[in-house]
Parts: sequence; structure tokens; C-alpha cells
Amino acid sequence: MRIVLVTGKGGVGKTTVAAATALAAAEHGHRTLISSTDPAHSLADAFEAALGDEPTEVAPGLMGQQIDAQSQLDRHWGAIRDQLMSVLGWGGVEGIEAEEFLVFPGMDELFALLEVDRHARSGAFDVIVVDCAPTAETLRLLSLPEVLSWYFERILPTERRIMRAARPILTRFTDLPVPEDDVFVAAQSVFDSVESVKALLGDPRVASARLVVNPEKMVIDEARRTYTYLGLFGYGVDGVVVNRVLPEEVSDPYFDRWRAIQKGHLHTIDEAFADVPRLRLRLFDDEMVGLDRLRLMASELYGDVDPVGGFEARSPFRVTESEGRVVLEVAVAFAHRDEVEVFRRGSELFVGVGPYRRSFVLPDSLRRRRVEAARLVDGVLRVSFDGGEG
Ligand SMILES: Nc1ncnc2c1ncn2[C@@H]1O[C@H](COP(=O)(O)OP(=O)(O)OP(=O)(O)O)[C@@H](O)[C@H]1O
Ligand SMILES: [Mg+2]
Repeated sequence: MRIVLVTGKGGVGKTTVAAATALAAAEHGHRTLISSTDPAHSLADAFEAALGDEPTEVAPGLMGQQIDAQSQLDRHWGAIRDQLMSVLGWGGVEGIEAEEFLVFPGMDELFALLEVDRHARSGAFDVIVVDCAPTAETLRLLSLPEVLSWYFERILPTERRIMRAARPILTRFTDLPVPEDDVFVAAQSVFDSVESVKALLGDPRVASARLVVNPEKMVIDEARRTYTYLGLFGYGVDGVVVNRVLPEEVSDPYFDRWRAIQKGHLHTIDEAFADVPRLRLRLFDDEMVGLDRLRLMASELYGDVDPVGGFEARSPFRVTESEGRVVLEVAVAFAHRDEVEVFRRGSELFVGVGPYRRSFVLPDSLRRRRVEAARLVDGVLRVSFDGGEG
């Protein structure tokens, strides 16, 4: 069972690449599902097919669905929301306003992921390709399970115990709405599902992100930050699709300048994503919709390689913390001690190994800290940062 989350900045070609990837996976004999968690839902347009909340067949061996986040949210969160609403109503906050309070940003996407989790565990599919919302939302969504579990682990068990004992007394003396047991059952079930999603997405043998970029500065900058944060949350990346590269046969001098610009950006992409496969995809002379064009795109992208089995999730670095020190660990296989050079410029960390150079966008938490030391042990470079606040 594999899950591939296709993500990237708005408009780079996520939906199209996800659709082509899913189609190729099905043609490699995998029972495949493609799910869109993006409320914009252009998946149906890519396939030129009608898609709804329930999976429907779009090609042999390929099912597609556009998850209706709102109905997922009602299903899982409804009872809890009603309870919280009645508590808030008691405090004077009502109607739409209260409802808005109770749906925090990213929550609908999280519930869309619960649906992916359900299909992943059903045993009905070998591969699930997820067409995600643009990067920022996806990132928030991937960090959400952490946030939610923290919340649930603390609140749930005690509240329920107290409420069981106190409900008979409370209802006699106050008009504060007291949660019924079923609210806790609902909350427990959301908690369990979130734990389940976390386990699934956090397992690099199962889940990986595939980043789609264009050879353009702003797109690359955002993808590099995404890459850093995915690493920080422990999610693996299995490939970078470089989409809309000007093909060689375009000889019109009008595009000469563009070609030179793209060349520079392609170089940046190679340095920044050196540890994962980079797949280039040309700018086609057509809009890439419908099965035939998606199939053409997939064959140029993957050739005969299995679009899922042929790619492995990798988390090229790790950030650990101990005794006030933050340590960034980067795998640099085959490097000798005297060849490694580390320096920092602004928010970027450069690591040179012999003739190769790699650069990382540092997470916010490390930008305010100074590099104290860098040591190479068994192919792992450990860069330690001071306690900050200096
Ligand atoms: N390599 C390409 N050559 C030509 N057209 C392309 C290519 N890649 C994508 N397109 C076209 O660009 C348009 C936008 O692509 P797509 O919808 O996949 O982007 P997206 O990243 O999913 O956008 P959004 O962020 O809005 O979800 C579509 O019309 C698609 O057919
Ligand atoms: Mg899209």
C-alpha cells in the first residue's frame, strides 16, 4: 500500500501531474484511487469526467473522487461542534459566528485526509494518489495531527471522567449545557482517526510527498521551504517534478531569454533537491486534459518506470534537540571529513562535499541561532546550533 501526496505552489500543475501519475499507476496494474482534497476540485476537468464524493471509475483499475470536505466535517465533527456551540451560546456567542470559531483553519483538509485514511485501510487499493491543495494548506494540514493529538490527549480523558460524575449534579444546579457521553464518544473517534492518519502519513514505507515545481524563482523558493518543513515534520519526499520546461525544439529567438532564465533555475533545483530524483516535464503545446494527453504526459514523465514503486520516500535531514542545542543531521554518504565545508548565508545553510554543494533553507526556529560546530560521523553531518536568544 502506498500513498503519494502531490503538492506544490498554486497553478504549477499538481492536479495534472497527480492525474497522470494515478493513470500510469493503474496501467502498471496497481488498484489505484486518486483523491482530491483541494476544495477547488479541478480533478474532474483533468479527466474530463464527472467525479463526486464517492469513488467512481475513470479508467480501468483507476477510481477517482473529489472529497467533499464539508460533509466529512459534519460527519466527524458534527456532535462535538454542536456541543461546543451550545456551550458558547450559553456564553453569548451565537449562530454563524460560533460556527466559524469551531472550524479552525485546515480542519476541512484534515477531515479530507481521514477519508484517505479510511480508503487506505480498506484493503481495496494498492495506491492512493492525493491531489492536495496548494502548499501552504497542505503543510498546515500535515502538522495538524500533531496539534490535535496534543489537545485531545490532555482534554479528553479527564473531561469525560469529570463529566460522568458531575452531570447529574450540574444539570440540577445550572443551565450550562453538559456534554452527553456521545460527544465524548465522537471526540474519541476523531482522536483515533487522527492518530491513524498520523501513523499512516508518518510511515515512509507508505506515504511520501511528490513536489511539483516550475523553473521560476518564486515557485522554487516556496518548494524549498516546503521541503524543509516536510523534513522537519518527518515526512518523506520521493521526487520533484519540474514541470513546464521549455523544450529544445522551440527555436524562436523570442524564447532565448526565457531559456537562459530557466537554465539558471534548473541548476538551483538540482542543488536544492540533490537527494531526490528530479523529473523534467516539458511545456506541452496543448492543455493536458483527457486520458490520452494524461497518458502522454505520464509516459514522458516516467517512461517504463513504475510511477509509485519506482520511487522511495526519503527524509534527507533530521532536526533533534537536546540540552538546549538544536542539531541538524544531514546524510552525506561517501564524504570524508576533510572534504566537507559548512557555511551559512542568511536563512540558508550551504554544505559542500568535495566538488558538490547543497543548500538548505533553514526552518524559522534555526534562523536566530548560530552554527556552533559541524561534525561528520559515519556519513552523517551533524551541525549543532547554539541556544539562540543571543
Ligand atoms: N507541462 C504542461 N504543459 C502544458 N500545459 C500544462 C502542463 N502542466 C499543466 N498544464 C496545464 O496548466 C493548467 C493548470 O494545471 P493544474 O490544474 O494541474 O495546476 P494545479 O497546480 O493543480 O493548480 P491549482 O493550484 O489551481 O490546483 C491546466 O490547464 C493544465 O492542463
Ligand atoms: Mg489543482
